[in-house]
Amino acid sequence: MKSEIINVSFNNKLSDLSYPIFVGTNLVPDCETIIKKFVQNRKVILIHDSFFSLKKQKNKSFNVFVKILIKYTSSVNLIPMSGGDKTKSMSQLNLILEKSLSFEIDRNSLIIAFGGGVIGDIAGFAASILLRGINYIQIPTTLLSQVDSSVGGKTGINSSKSKNLIGSFHQPLAVIIDIELLKSLPKREFVAGLVEVVKYGLIHDRKFFDYIELNYKEILEYDKKKLKEIICESCKIKSEIIKNDEKENGQRALLNLGHTFGHAIESFGKYDGKIIHGEAVSVGICLAFKLSEKMNFCSQDEVERVINLFKKLELPTSLKNIKSVSITTSKMLEKFKFDKKNKNNQLTFILNTKIGESFIKNNMDLNILTNFLNDEI
Ligand code: GLY
Repeated sequence: MKSEIINVSFNNKLSDLSYPIFVGTNLVPDCETIIKKFVQNRKVILIHDSFFSLKKQKNKSFNVFVKILIKYTSSVNLIPMSGGDKTKSMSQLNLILEKSLSFEIDRNSLIIAFGGGVIGDIAGFAASILLRGINYIQIPTTLLSQVDSSVGGKTGINSSKSKNLIGSFHQPLAVIIDIELLKSLPKREFVAGLVEVVKYGLIHDRKFFDYIELNYKEILEYDKKKLKEIICESCKIKSEIIKNDEKENGQRALLNLGHTFGHAIESFGKYDGKIIHGEAVSVGICLAFKLSEKMNFCSQDEVERVINLFKKLELPTSLKNIKSVSITTSKMLEKFKFDKKNKNNQLTFILNTKIGESFIKNNMDLNILTNFLNDEI
């Protein structure tokens, strides 16, 4: 299967930044022509999920990739990190910064993030502040990172207050997506990643939602052709949405559908793996649709279609499905205060008029929200 290249570009008054996303099967062990121009004559720091290790024979792609790097640069330094959300902390960031500096990097050095969203987020953030900013490449290995976090330059770590509160916008030089790597992923992570794929249909493209609804069984069976289609389509929709709004001053916030609820739910789980991001966002999107219906923006039929698709994907669709943590209305409201979309102490939510059409609802009425949550919990 041929690889596809999607271009991410920004209509930014200050620069005409753009970079490629390469999507293909077996692309990592076969990326020599792509990667050599990026790594030649540079020190490379490969920040990778410790799941991928040179000692493990089963990580053949990773081993071949390291050999390719060594062929084109004499300085390849590996920093293994755990791929769990707890890695997105100040102490782990500091570890990356100090280790990178000990390799005597310069402004021409390159970070490569090889792993899921956690690795990409923290490695990208480190790249944005080391020596006031060095380049990095994203090689996302989970579905969630392939369709969302590796594209668009959001980097960062978590705070004790909530998720992703400390970070920067720093665009990568390139993104290399290898569909084959998804096989190394636990099924639970794969399905959770599908939530972000469905999200693109819900906010922007009803036909894409129809397509996923029609093909969900083949997608769950890792049908390579269908996987490539949904990954490419997701990246295209994301790049279309962010091209006029790199720093999220407007429409980019639509990509946050379900995330205000989702980030709050996730933080109650203390990032210990009981609730993973995609599962929390699955509940969050269902809540956003139900809230849209309660406020008469959206019909009940549309809400049911969304919930039914997530149920078919065996994802949680309601706060009542989340038994591992204690959730109350007041705790949820407390978490919402830290949402980055808020302005002047007013809460902002992403709601829907129908499948394929989201909008930004500023100044959310606190009474409506409180009554809604009381009914849902
Ligand atoms: N993950 C949402 C965004 O990149 O804006």
